[in-house]
Amino acid sequence: MQRRNDVIHLRNGGTSVVLDTRRGPLPSIVFWGADLGDLSQSEADSLGVAARPQRVSGGLDEPAPLTLIPQESSGWLGTPGLSGHRAGRFFSTRLATQAIDLDEESATLVIEATDPDAGLAATVTLEVTAAGLLRQRIALENRSGEPYSLVSLAPTFPLPHDVAELLDTTGRHLRERSPQRHTFTIGTHLRESRRGRPGSDASLLLAAGRPGFGFERGLVYAVHTAWSGNHRLLAERTPTADSFLSAGELLVNGEMVLAQGETYTTPWAIGSWGDGLNELSRRFHDELRSRPHHPTRPRPVTLNTWEAVYFDQDLDKLRALAERAARVGVERFVLDDGWFLGRRDDTAGLGDWFIDPAVWPSGLTPLIDAVRGLGMEFGLWVEPEMINLDSDLARQHPDWILRGRVDLPVSARQQHVLDLAHPDAWQYIFERLDALLLDNDIAYLKWDHNRDLLEAGAADTGKPRAHENTLALYRLLSTLKSRHPDLEIESCASGGARVDLGILEHTDRIWTSDTLDPIERLQIQRYTGLLVPAEIMGAHLTSPKVHSTGRAVSLDLSAGVALFGHLGIEWDLTDLDEGGLDAVRRWVDIHKRHRRTIHSGVLVNGDTADATTDVRGVVAADGASALFTFTQVSTSVTYPPGRFTLPGLAPARRYDVRIAAGSVSAGPGQSPLPWAEQPIRLTGRQLGTVGLQAPVLYPAQLILLELSASEPNEPH
Ligand code: DGJ
Repeated sequence: MQRRNDVIHLRNGGTSVVLDTRRGPLPSIVFWGADLGDLSQSEADSLGVAARPQRVSGGLDEPAPLTLIPQESSGWLGTPGLSGHRAGRFFSTRLATQAIDLDEESATLVIEATDPDAGLAATVTLEVTAAGLLRQRIALENRSGEPYSLVSLAPTFPLPHDVAELLDTTGRHLRERSPQRHTFTIGTHLRESRRGRPGSDASLLLAAGRPGFGFERGLVYAVHTAWSGNHRLLAERTPTADSFLSAGELLVNGEMVLAQGETYTTPWAIGSWGDGLNELSRRFHDELRSRPHHPTRPRPVTLNTWEAVYFDQDLDKLRALAERAARVGVERFVLDDGWFLGRRDDTAGLGDWFIDPAVWPSGLTPLIDAVRGLGMEFGLWVEPEMINLDSDLARQHPDWILRGRVDLPVSARQQHVLDLAHPDAWQYIFERLDALLLDNDIAYLKWDHNRDLLEAGAADTGKPRAHENTLALYRLLSTLKSRHPDLEIESCASGGARVDLGILEHTDRIWTSDTLDPIERLQIQRYTGLLVPAEIMGAHLTSPKVHSTGRAVSLDLSAGVALFGHLGIEWDLTDLDEGGLDAVRRWVDIHKRHRRTIHSGVLVNGDTADATTDVRGVVAADGASALFTFTQVSTSVTYPPGRFTLPGLAPARRYDVRIAAGSVSAGPGQSPLPWAEQPIRLTGRQLGTVGLQAPVLYPAQLILLELSASEPNEPH
């Protein structure tokens, strides 16, 4: 890292960020992207000068810089970085740098800024991490006696001018992370969540790249908000040729009114870049994996009881299921919804976190003992932030339910939302969960959240509480974890409605989607996997007829798609005969054999020209081995299909390629696939550029390829 006069160069993890502190009241990012190498003083200065625009006719006398907090007072006419007022006054701020502190060791820059007239002070923290991510957050303090109503505050990430295409995702329950692409024209592309959680439609990343960027290549940038409540991502291109991304929390009316001395701190806004989405995503994965609390012990293969029994909890049936689970190699058995007081269906019980003696007369101990006796861990489903009106809790504490008026908000799944920011409600939930964990041998909680928040206000004050509830949730999760240090928690929200790096600071796995349909999962997992590495992305085997889509699928397809995740099973295994159990066990064994590689390697997606095919894989961190799946999603017009390439391999290493699972047996009128009959050995470069002839497969079939490098230790 260098500081050359007033131009600061942060370098870390293959990323450079150059900031000019001389233009405008706050520093502006002149460049963010590929490592520029060591810059001389004159080069650093020149980079700043080279980035300055001319004054133009009809424009301001001083062209406005896109500073770290763009402000109208310096001529900025796009979306402001900070918006707020004091009862309508001080609508415009002029935060100006007071001090800059550089920490060379951590590539961190802290900028203190004040606006004495408006009575505000801001601290901008900007860091280039060892994984090459750019993280920013801003803390805003009210130093005046008058309250300051904050409307919005979010860090900005400038983009190069040739970035002209946007990618984000939308979706719904059972179909999260559906990609959409747009031309990045002048104007603002805004993705907001007002759901009190990121939502099934949330875009985990808002990406902007050179036209046509893909997974394997094409310069691309993206941002994420590490926050589990309302959020706002935007991409903006201005008529003055400024393009930027911004990532922050969405604050509703009146939610953030700062009294004197109070500070609001934005969530971390995190940016990545890459030559292709694979590289961009690798930075997020590397970052997560470098955290001290990132799960490192082998991820236990899980059986979740939901689709096997739904609410029909019966000790004998569940013991039989556990016995089958253990036989196929399951290591963690999770009892889903339906075990607590009054919870016979989804209309009642939420809030009453006591084991229901009507279903469990001897408590959960007999089931837990059976599970533990079979050598598995025991996990339990909870949904602590929710409440049914038909519950003792709601009858005793109706004032603990979030609302925007006297009447309750529109219900969803017959449930409402508990005000966890109410200290008594928080304490009650904490004590119930703590007692359950103390009284039972529970290693894992599946923590669900099954509705969007509406009118999320406190019953007593009438004030908005979405922000406070997100913080209360984090506090609850971290308190439970500190009291139960070995406890693991899964973040589930009707599937993937709460996937973000805020919740992942406190949890160990996300439930990716409620659909187990492998065809649907291909896309859902690909786009979730841009942010979330395989070891914390839940992926389960489905029963042969998928419950959410009615589609009949093969075990090979279901297991091959689930392979590149944290493997689980969601299927009534008591329906299976010995042959069926053997087939499941074979896939569990494949996963176990490779999980060290899958859970530490580099996840790669192929850019297939034929949209009916799918190529994805994991390359071991040292390049010594790799696994890929080739999936024929639907029938292709070309027959046989063309060649496919395998991205991300060590270019100079030679790999033996073999089909490890799935069948390429020739159908009527077909000859065998030559490379499946005859051993082949090719370099990573050859496999990545020339590729392999794709097999002729029925639609919705896949093959698993296992690659092992023949010579050790050439650079990856
Ligand atoms: C929604 C979850 O995503 C499912 O897996 C299941 O746990 C149900 N909730 C239970 O109510």
